[in-house]
Amino acid sequence: MTKVIIGSDHGGYALKEFVKKVLTAMDYEVIDAGPEAPESCDYPVYAFKVAEQVDDETPGILVCGTGLGMSMAANKVKGIRAAVCTNEYMARMSRAHNNANILCLGERVTGPGLAEDIVKTFMTTEFEGDRHLRRISLFDK
Ligand code: RB5
Repeated sequence: MTKVIIGSDHGGYALKEFVKKVLTAMDYEVIDAGPEAPESCDYPVYAFKVAEQVDDETPGILVCGTGLGMSMAANKVKGIRAAVCTNEYMARMSRAHNNANILCLGERVTGPGLAEDIVKTFMTTEFEGDRHLRRISLFDK
């Protein structure tokens, strides 16, 4: 069973709990890196907890108010390609062309119905490789 690591801050807590149900219904093993309650917390803490467990076989999902802070923090971790996606096209292309290994969502931006479609698209789209592999390889200096 494919594992997915998920985390949020307080601004993304409710959507994290919803996305966990979506992933479980899709038969993924969901590892929740926290938080366990919606109290105010610092999103980089959870961005790093998730990013440090993610690799190209084990994707991650991070949720904050906008998805922006989570993506900025997660992308500081070597090997992470975190993408904020606000629609299905971005989710599909983040996988097909960028081989994103973390999906970032914004609970204050994206409602649960659209978030569900974005998660399903992200989790089921394959990286196309080829010229896109050459391009993402240029990320590593
Ligand atoms: C928290 O208020 C908010 O700043 C955070 O969830 C996130 O949107 C940061 O990028």
